[in-house]
Amino acid sequence: MTKPYIYITRKIPDEIINPYVEQFDFKMWEKADEPVPRDILLEEAKRADGLLCMLSENIDKELLNIAPQLKIVANLAVGYDNIAVDEAKERGITITNTPDVLTETTADLTFALLMATARRIVEADTYIQKDLWRNWAPYLLAGSDIHHKTIGIVGMGRIGEAVARRAKGFGMSILYHNRSRHVEAEKELQATYADFKELLTTSDFVVSLIPLSKDTNQLFDRDVFDKMKSSAIFINASRGATVDEEALYDALRTNQIKAAGLDVFTEEPIRANHPLVQLDNTVCLPHIGSATEQTRTDMLNLCLDNIAAVFSGNAPKTPL
Ligand code: GLV
Ligand code: GLV
Repeated sequence: MTKPYIYITRKIPDEIINPYVEQFDFKMWEKADEPVPRDILLEEAKRADGLLCMLSENIDKELLNIAPQLKIVANLAVGYDNIAVDEAKERGITITNTPDVLTETTADLTFALLMATARRIVEADTYIQKDLWRNWAPYLLAGSDIHHKTIGIVGMGRIGEAVARRAKGFGMSILYHNRSRHVEAEKELQATYADFKELLTTSDFVVSLIPLSKDTNQLFDRDVFDKMKSSAIFINASRGATVDEEALYDALRTNQIKAAGLDVFTEEPIRANHPLVQLDNTVCLPHIGSATEQTRTDMLNLCLDNIAAVFSGNAPKTPL
């Protein structure tokens, strides 16, 4: 019997696939740091029974149309805006993502980004690197307090809740906005539900953890930044396209808001000449929310576990 053919769109460690080599024929794209070119991905899709892909791959209708054998797409991410989910489901293809295993790690990074932005950590490190430190001074690199301020979390899913727990530890007041109420967070974390406008006008930190969809595309637009306090700090650890980046740039440049910490961008990767990188009051990270060695390994293992489940006729752990 021929084994199912699984194409993995990045070079991943052999130890991850070793437990499955009896069961599957694997092929990987040869590079760990560069995505597979689209034409090669399309060629592979023609004969693949399963794909293990990254958020850098667009699993769209064009690909699905030429992939008659495809049974599962295991996405190495919790977000799945890179996949035409409805189209895939219509074709009976299972889509899985990697929730839960990355929740705490991504919340750590989100909070680290918030702190780094508020306390100007990156700027301060650069200050010494550039050998500018000559004197202690009362307002040298003075930033914004975090403790006892108000955090407004937009998108109170698993990661939002984990960020709220961290915020509670810092004595922050917690507001959240979400499609549905999160009763547990209200009880356990004293998080308060707010409508979007109220959250924007009263939060010291506005943190976006909202998934990208048709409804949230460019949700953070000019009007939204207008409503925020001039002392507000905006943090985005979800998807870049939830933000109108030109509007954000203008808000930061004119000090309409105080600062921003961004782990995600509309077009990734960005380059050093990106307007947002030019601003002193912005901390930019290369989409590393879930990037710890342990969590990336857990995410890969979950993808393979899901693939194995589908081909042995069982329910995958984390289907969409
Ligand atoms: C990363 O952005 C993810 O969606 O897991
Ligand atoms: C600062 O280092 C202080 O002692 O207040």
